[in-house]
Amino acid sequence: MELIKTAEEHIPLIKAIADEVWPKTFGDILSPAQIVYMMDMMYSEEAIKQQMNEWNHHYLLAKEGDDYLGYVSYETGYKGKPWTKVHKIYVLSTSQGKGVGRFLIDAVSAIAKEKGDTELSLNVNRYNKAIEFYKKVGFGIIGNEDIDIGNGFLMEDYIMNKKL
Ligand SMILES: CC(C)(COP(=O)(O)OP(=O)(O)OC[C@H]1O[C@@H](n2cnc3c(N)ncnc32)[C@H](O)[C@@H]1OP(=O)(O)O)[C@@H](O)C(=O)NCCC(=O)NCCS
Repeated sequence: MELIKTAEEHIPLIKAIADEVWPKTFGDILSPAQIVYMMDMMYSEEAIKQQMNEWNHHYLLAKEGDDYLGYVSYETGYKGKPWTKVHKIYVLSTSQGKGVGRFLIDAVSAIAKEKGDTELSLNVNRYNKAIEFYKKVGFGIIGNEDIDIGNGFLMEDYIMNKKL
């Protein structure tokens, strides 16, 4: 598997992966209205561009042959701490359970260590099956966080960290 460090030209590929995976992941967890709201706020091409250019989010794609199978976005030195925040990780439905997610977390871990960070941190919805994946790759729950994202919607998350 190949790791691609992305630029703006990759944004449509990133969005296509989110469009395929996101509604399937959250269809049983969130209302249709919240799914539309969050897709637009966090996963539109404009939102991804802003994350890359203004918010210091870096995106990596996993590629096999001609196919882009998944992506991860991260930010080192998150909020002035020696933590790398994993903002997003998504693997195409047909490629899940084949090691792509672990490959992406390993890649971010290596970059974070190089930058001198000592932990990875992320937020995950408290009802998301991905929690089991995160435990498998070395994360543990360190707290809860409910985030008001506007329009009457809440994100009900665990915070999970992994020591590097
Ligand atoms: C969560 C996700 C990124 C994991 O990536 P993946 O490529 O499917 O996971 P991997 O194949 O690398 O799995 C690594 C290990 O975790 C386990 N695992 C993965 N998903 C799991 C699940 N839902 N439940 C239990 N174990 C799981 C695998 O069995 C594997 O275990 P092993 O090392 O003992 O074989 C991916 O499934 C995904 O995109 N899910 C939907 C979107 C999502 O929820 N993203 C996270 C939002 S916070």
